[in-house]
Amino acid sequence: MSDPSGVLAEAFSGAGWDPEEARRLQRLVELFLQRPGPPDPHASFPDFARLRDRLGRSVETEGPEEVEARFLELYAHVHMNEAPYSLEERRRMDAAGGYWNHAGGLSPILKAGPHIARDTVSADFGAGNGLQGLLLQALDPHARTVQIEIAARMRDIGEGLREWLGIPSDRIEWVVGDVLDVPASGYGFVYLYRPVRPEGAGRAFYERFAREVEGEERPPVIFSIADCLRDFLSERYEVFYGDGHLTCFRPAARRG
Ligand SMILES: C[S@@+](CC[C@H](N)C(=O)[O-])C[C@H]1O[C@@H](n2cnc3c(N)ncnc32)[C@H](O)[C@@H]1O
Repeated sequence: MSDPSGVLAEAFSGAGWDPEEARRLQRLVELFLQRPGPPDPHASFPDFARLRDRLGRSVETEGPEEVEARFLELYAHVHMNEAPYSLEERRRMDAAGGYWNHAGGLSPILKAGPHIARDTVSADFGAGNGLQGLLLQALDPHARTVQIEIAARMRDIGEGLREWLGIPSDRIEWVVGDVLDVPASGYGFVYLYRPVRPEGAGRAFYERFAREVEGEERPPVIFSIADCLRDFLSERYEVFYGDGHLTCFRPAARRG
């Protein structure tokens, strides 16, 4: 079922994808097709086999738009859109206006390549089951990904996904806790999808986050979905990509 010749990538790029992103999308499709289903002790992925078979048929018989749509269905299923929170986790989440487990989508993964080097340490603040960081590791193996997530069960599910995707355990570090308590320093690449709302206790998170990344000797590139960081960053950062869903920040070139 693999497509080593790049036929699928060519079809994606013919349908309007940037050629490099098309190649990355092909690799992701192959990654999901080439493996048996992920371990599933919590019955989190009941539709995996059906959706994967549908994707496989689509690759054989349909055009790039249909293949992309079938892949997105499978990706969304593996991402999960509901996290199993304990009462205490839900209480803490509600206290900081925590955002539920919506999927950040493929665009940050497809666009991140040029910003990740072999020695990069990356982080996902509010990682859910960690799928975004795992897919990034699969496409661009790098030193370590720190997955910060309030729901402990998601770490367990994410560890199963890590094994499934063949990512070495020393590449993934889980911090099960509240993003309000976790420093934002020490990273080369940070991804976040609005883990908390920028109000009340959540506002303090973005204020501190901005202070910490800007205080770094080498501030990280930041990919932010449904962004609410922009108002907290100073002119030390500039936006280099934005499409209303994904906003990408990098340290601004020093003047003078
Ligand atoms: C919108 S989802 C993003 C999931 C994933 N990062 C992505 O982009 O696909 C936000 C995640 O943040 C987590 N979260 C919410 N409040 C949090 C908090 N205070 N501390 C840590 N994680 C939190 C939620 O459980 C959820 O998994």
